[in-house]
Amino acid sequence: MQWFKSIKFKLTSWYVVILAVILSTFSLFLYFTLADSLYKGVDGKIKTMAEIVVSSARSPFTIDLDQLMTDRYGVRPLGRFIQVLDESGKIGGSSTNVQDIKIPISVPTLTAASKGITTYETVEVMGKYPLRLVTMPVMENGKMAGVVQVASSLEGVEEALDKLALILFIAVPAVLLFASAGGLFLANKALKPVDQITQIARRIGSGDLSQRIRIKRGNDELGRLASTFNEMIAKVDESFRQVKRFTADASHELKTPLTILRGEVEVGLKRERALKEYKRILVSNLEEITRMSRIVEDLLTLSRADMGELKMEREKVELSSLAREVWEDLQIMAHQRKVELTFIGDGHAPVDGDPLFLRQLILNLAENGLKYTRPGGEVSMKVESDRDNGVARIFVADTGVGIAPKDLKRIFDRFFRTDKARSRDTSRDTGGTGLGLSICQWIARAHKGEIAVKSKVGKGSTFTVTLPLKH
Ligand SMILES: Nc1ncnc2c1ncn2[C@@H]1O[C@H](COP(=O)(O)OP(=O)(O)OP(=O)(O)O)[C@@H](O)[C@H]1O
Ligand SMILES: [Mg+2]
Repeated sequence: MQWFKSIKFKLTSWYVVILAVILSTFSLFLYFTLADSLYKGVDGKIKTMAEIVVSSARSPFTIDLDQLMTDRYGVRPLGRFIQVLDESGKIGGSSTNVQDIKIPISVPTLTAASKGITTYETVEVMGKYPLRLVTMPVMENGKMAGVVQVASSLEGVEEALDKLALILFIAVPAVLLFASAGGLFLANKALKPVDQITQIARRIGSGDLSQRIRIKRGNDELGRLASTFNEMIAKVDESFRQVKRFTADASHELKTPLTILRGEVEVGLKRERALKEYKRILVSNLEEITRMSRIVEDLLTLSRADMGELKMEREKVELSSLAREVWEDLQIMAHQRKVELTFIGDGHAPVDGDPLFLRQLILNLAENGLKYTRPGGEVSMKVESDRDNGVARIFVADTGVGIAPKDLKRIFDRFFRTDKARSRDTSRDTGGTGLGLSICQWIARAHKGEIAVKSKVGKGSTFTVTLPLKH
């Protein structure tokens, strides 16, 4: 009984019901208008004929009607019966065909005629079909002198109407039958892709996210449904992959310091050592622990950001002074790396935001600049406010190693590090995890801003953060 609930069935039923209503209304309308006009036609003809007879009838009404009709019409009107009666109801003359039948005249009709009124009626005389009869008075000196009756058989009319009714009775159900077959066929054809989509969705639901709906359709409703569905699955697929990659990368990043930590401790425990030796091991352990804490902290920030759990403060932050503080804090690191760190701030660039996060954003960028620039290079920080466009910009430019075009769009991905950065990692010189820029991007976006990068390998990179100015 599932079938009765299907859209196919419902669509077809509605279609057939509506068509049935339209066809029946149309048939009834056709039947009754035709009947009306046919009956009116008969009435018109017998009336004309009666008027002709009335105009030539004079008492005592011994008139040769056949002769009169032949004179007027050229032929004897077949199927019409004419008779003339005097005022007492006695037949004065009649067309020859009246011999076969008897045209009745009722008392009310005669009474009406005596008052000068013409009466139309349908009478059953004999045979299958009734007669249409007009009774018209002949007035002489204001008084009824006799009546003229003209009758016409309704055989033609009734036969035509019966035939029409029969045709409609057969045709309407036949059309409905064809229509339901056609409707079912069309609904089936139109909805077939839906079944296909359902099947694929079922497969995807069972875990196979690589499935896509492949139906060849243009830009119709189902085509759009299929492509929207595909896009959605692609997104789900991508985020699934990202989660998997993220977990794998996160464990990998934590595994390295843990392995080092374990190795150092194991070596340390192998035999008794001098105090100095233990100290050295502990210092090294602390380094790894610090590194792990940083990774865990960064991961926590990102996952809380993903879940929308991080609360952003909204206060007026002066970007220039914030950047200047970062610049000052990084002087020691710059000095160690023998990289010149400069700062230009035009004094007034207020934005609405969270000072701690914004500080982290600038710090991450400047640190990257220092990390990926060789000794003797330069990192310049600059803050400007562009009132015309209502934005503040932070530039962090370096003369460092640069980023290859193929890596440019990936550097904001979590855990992404260029091969160069990784190889330097072995010297534990730049030891990062590849989360810094992801956090920067998230902070920029959370402030309704954006972050962009331009870079040339061997020449250097420029990161630009654009944030809306506070009014
Ligand atoms: N200024 C830069 N010059 C050249 N390469 C850069 C620069 N900034 C970032 N990169 C590249 O982009 C990668 C990702 O940067 P990101 O700051 O996210 O990670 P990281 O610096 O390696 O580690 P973390 O910042 O988490 O300690 C870096 O590993 C590096 O390869
Ligand atoms: Mg970094």
